[in-house]
Amino acid sequence: MKLLLIGSGGREHALAWKLAQSPKLTRMWCAPGNAGIAGERLAGNGAAVECAPLGAEDLPGLLKFAQEQRPDLTVVGPDNPLALGIVDLFQQHGLPIWGPNRRAAQFESSKVFAQEFMEKYGIPTARAGAFTVPAEASRFAASLGGRCAVKADGLALGKGVIICKDMAQADAAIDEIMVKEAFGAAGRKLVIQELLEGTEISLHVLCDGKSARLFPTSQDHKRALDGDAGPNTGGMGTYSPTPFLTDTHLGMAYNDIVAPWLKGCAAEGIDFRGVLYPGLMLTAQGPKVLEFNARFGDPETQVYLARLENDLVELLLACVEGTLDRHTLSWKPAAAVCVVMASGGYPGSYAKGKPISGLDEANALPDTKVFHAGTARAGNQVVTSGGRVLGVTALGRNLKDAQAAAYRAVERIRFEGAQFRRDIASKALK
Ligand code: AMP
Ligand code: GLY
Repeated sequence: MKLLLIGSGGREHALAWKLAQSPKLTRMWCAPGNAGIAGERLAGNGAAVECAPLGAEDLPGLLKFAQEQRPDLTVVGPDNPLALGIVDLFQQHGLPIWGPNRRAAQFESSKVFAQEFMEKYGIPTARAGAFTVPAEASRFAASLGGRCAVKADGLALGKGVIICKDMAQADAAIDEIMVKEAFGAAGRKLVIQELLEGTEISLHVLCDGKSARLFPTSQDHKRALDGDAGPNTGGMGTYSPTPFLTDTHLGMAYNDIVAPWLKGCAAEGIDFRGVLYPGLMLTAQGPKVLEFNARFGDPETQVYLARLENDLVELLLACVEGTLDRHTLSWKPAAAVCVVMASGGYPGSYAKGKPISGLDEANALPDTKVFHAGTARAGNQVVTSGGRVLGVTALGRNLKDAQAAAYRAVERIRFEGAQFRRDIASKALK
């Protein structure tokens, strides 16, 4: 079986690594991929994973490539091609593809759609309103005493959310997003949510349009610096499982969030085949959904796939074919920790092209895998080529061991300006 994977980040390297373990695969491409993905081999026949120089948003280019190579399955990593309708396009041309279609991807690509859906189907979320007129948005923010999250409706590279503590900040955020259009058309509509307090965790739900399978819990670390200080980033590290939501409460979260979501999808005729990734706040009143993503998390995927025992190709095919109810997910009892090593300056501006050393030594450590994100090959060397560079991932009997193992691997790796948090998973060990 031939498979095409779309994307180039740490999430896609984790997907490529896990998919490549399936004995079903005889050939695999990744568009555009990265230096780590290019180093993976298929377990079935030892063939190298081939990187194709096509951008994840180049829909015509990807379609042409797929029409020529005829992959038996295409797997979409990032949110943008989903929001652009790559799934609909491939389906129109009879090409099997994994991921939500454009309408289903709106759970992520439109905060207004997601908020209205949650309210309609009784999914616990923040008190919120959707607005197209700045004065009305401001009035609602005032009713919350200015303590609110102002969110651009559309995709804004993960930057379209502004957390406000008073009315001056709220009005500035509304002005920035709606009037100055800091995120372009994405901000013509916005959602304002009350600020929720508590611990933030990630859920992932695999879905075939009718039935769903919930992953164990994980937690990302979104701020750049130790102790959750500094600016927001794409995610500086993850671990799984988290102790903050017990198995009993995870079952309740399924009943309160996933069950009504599935019912709502059925009622609205939304055919969601992919991963739904709700960001949850564990509040004093129970878990509440902050936002939905319609794809695997990055770097949640790195810890999840390190723990997943199933053949991922089989699971993703089951989503596409609508047979997920025949599968049970199986997880290693081990804990996993992923520490992101980023370029100096990230999430602001940073230099590229810095040579990376120690990758082989780190990968040779037991139960350790270094996933590449922003890396490229320059001659014989692997060099940095993005903000988040590596996701150093390790398994352990428990979180403490996994954390120690991940940091042992981090110590082996060097590149100029490398920046990483030293406290990934520490919250869970207190
Ligand atoms: P989002 O892009 O919706 O995940 O928002 C980015 C980050 O803002 C989240 O990871 C939270 O840390 C924070 N956030 C979003 N909405 C809220 C809210 N209603 N209350 C508190 N924090 C929030
Ligand atoms: N873990 C953050 C994200 O994937 O959006």
